[in-house]
Amino acid sequence: MTKSVWHINKTIDLDLPADRVFAYLCRWDTVEEWDPTVFAARKLTKGMPGVGSRFAVNLRMGWKRIPMIYRIREMAPPRLIVMAGQGAGFRAVDRIRLEPRPVGTRLTYAVEITFDQRHSPLADRIGRALFDHYASWTIRRLQAVLNGFPRSVPTLTPMTRLADRAILPGLIGFTSLGYTLGKHRRPVASALYAGRTMVLTGGTSGIGRAVARELVRRGAKLVVVGRDAEKLNQLRKELAGLPAEGTIETEQADLSLLAEVRDLAARLLRRHDHIDVLINNAGALFNRYHRTREGIERTMATDLVSPYLLTRLLLPPLKASGDARIINVASGGMYTQGMRAEGLTPRPSDYDGPTAYAQAKRGLVILAETWARKWAASGISVHAMHPGWVDTPGLERSLPAFHRQLRPWLRTPAQGADTIVWLAAAPDAHRASGSSGWIEKSVRPMFLATHAVHQKTILNW
Ligand SMILES: NC(=O)c1ccc[n+]([C@@H]2O[C@H](COP(=O)([O-])OP(=O)(O)OC[C@H]3O[C@@H](n4cnc5c(N)ncnc54)[C@H](OP(=O)(O)O)[C@@H]3O)[C@@H](O)[C@H]2O)c1
Repeated sequence: MTKSVWHINKTIDLDLPADRVFAYLCRWDTVEEWDPTVFAARKLTKGMPGVGSRFAVNLRMGWKRIPMIYRIREMAPPRLIVMAGQGAGFRAVDRIRLEPRPVGTRLTYAVEITFDQRHSPLADRIGRALFDHYASWTIRRLQAVLNGFPRSVPTLTPMTRLADRAILPGLIGFTSLGYTLGKHRRPVASALYAGRTMVLTGGTSGIGRAVARELVRRGAKLVVVGRDAEKLNQLRKELAGLPAEGTIETEQADLSLLAEVRDLAARLLRRHDHIDVLINNAGALFNRYHRTREGIERTMATDLVSPYLLTRLLLPPLKASGDARIINVASGGMYTQGMRAEGLTPRPSDYDGPTAYAQAKRGLVILAETWARKWAASGISVHAMHPGWVDTPGLERSLPAFHRQLRPWLRTPAQGADTIVWLAAAPDAHRASGSSGWIEKSVRPMFLATHAVHQKTILNW
């Protein structure tokens, strides 16, 4: 009896140059980022991918899991990759051809599956139709994770507007449930992080630590800023040990002190002629009034003045990137507050930590919108986001009762990090610069600073 053989052949255009697409597709363990039929994938052999490298790939067909072993059979950078896969009772050969174009790459993807036994005519017809359907879906998704979702730049939808205004659905969205509902929204390929220089403040704890891990795992050249040398050392050791192509450097600075922010920026300017992503994540809610030795109230110094100054000082290398992003980590706590001029200079007599924190975070959102407009021509996109309610040392320290009561519903740091990591590379986010405050990869209206007076206050400050 002759064997059943199924073929497909599809072509797509990609925005990335061929060498980057090639480097990405050779890392077959990232196949789960774009192939919806893959449940999990991992590399079995050590070192850089090369002919003979092997990968374990677990396919998902309904409730069934189908294990396969793939091997790189042929490689001709940056034009050809041939993968040979073996499953129980069938073999697959994936042949990927890349053709460099004046801008981007044309990719032709051919797959041939050979079954050890012949199917009945009906099973064969149904199988071929399903195969063609899944293959088309997979190729479209590969295009989307690399180019972004072109026809769906995120905008404010009536549903999110309604949920946000009704407060309760909006608040439920801050919990781990919100993450679960949104996590499959808008995936992004690790190829878009590889080799990009990213500066992250507050990477030694909580959300920042999870962001650092994920960015290095996806191949970024990461610089983590922290104030504690021992924590920075630990983080460097931990991340350098990851089986990832990203790298990590650390810089020590107490960001509540402007002199240290200036020194930090000077060091970064000496070492990096371009910075692709700046993530202003360091921040805290302080329940006691305290003035830094430079005379600024501590919440304002750490959560607003420091990210403002650092971003302004790093503007030259951000502009030099040609395609940079700035991400301000704000907070849903600011939903309770409009911007008030006097709110930016809290006084000891009536100091309230959550109020000062909310004012500072609202300030960060206004800055994001203003900077987005101002620097759009330099290719810089600017975003403000809220990570949700996340179980971190910072939350436990600043709001112990809230942390205790909501603990079962809080997000993990990795869940809180998800939208920050997405904003750092997603092409669709880049196209939606400044128009938006992000929660769970969607735009939320309460983030929008609608009153001109807010902007005037902060810009004159
Ligand atoms: N957790 C939440 O539910 C939540 C909700 C909304 C927004 N956020 C925001 O998310 C960001 C991260 O918070 P988190 O919950 O992950 O808190 P966290 O666990 O306390 O982490 C905060 C990070 O900022 C650093 N940092 C604080 N003050 C600093 C200073 N003066 N100089 C340098 N680094 C400093 C901390 O360094 P150390 O490791 O040395 O302490 C730490 O790495 C903050 O901007 C926070 O406002 C959090």
